[in-house]
Amino acid sequence: MNKETVMCRGQRFRLYLSEEQIQQRIQELGAQITNDYEGKKPILIGVLNGAFMFLADLIRAIDLDSEIDFIKLSSYGDAKVSSGRVHELKSIDAQIEGRHVIVVEDIVDTGLSMEFMMQRMNEYKPASVEVAVLLHKYEATQVDLDLKYVAFPVPNLFVIGYGLDYGQLARNLSQIYVLDE
Ligand code: IMP
Repeated sequence: MNKETVMCRGQRFRLYLSEEQIQQRIQELGAQITNDYEGKKPILIGVLNGAFMFLADLIRAIDLDSEIDFIKLSSYGDAKVSSGRVHELKSIDAQIEGRHVIVVEDIVDTGLSMEFMMQRMNEYKPASVEVAVLLHKYEATQVDLDLKYVAFPVPNLFVIGYGLDYGQLARNLSQIYVLDE
């Protein structure tokens, strides 16, 4: 159900990006990727847990033979701010040497997780690595990253829904909500 406000862990969040806005933008990104990777078979690597929903919609918007795999990185736990420490909880299973990799992430905040991801991916010697990210908190990013496919640049706000959690809750929402402070 698509509500204007939701409660999560006793806090109120208001609608920030509607299901329609999200889905329309993903169609655009999918078309762009389809065009950019014509004749290639990209592998989309989703960063668990948050990227599962974005990856599921994005891959359906890509009209190419494509594969998926997942990696799991340490997260914020129950906090609303980044701990600044990243480690790998689950590695990828696929062989990506010589492959065209698209890292799929829900949100880039400080950028430390993505910086870690790029270092990890490059160790496997892929043919190319690009990033598809749903939300980029551009004001909060502390490292230099080349984010090729950004669905929505956003200011430094705490958001939930569409895969993004607050203490593991709210991932099931079809829309993105912002903390109503
Ligand atoms: P970074 O390493 O600081 O860029 O953080 C990336 C990770 O932090 C994302 O994959 C999310 O899991 C989490 N994160 C960052 N901002 C938010 C937010 O506003 N809501 C929920 N999770 C967030």
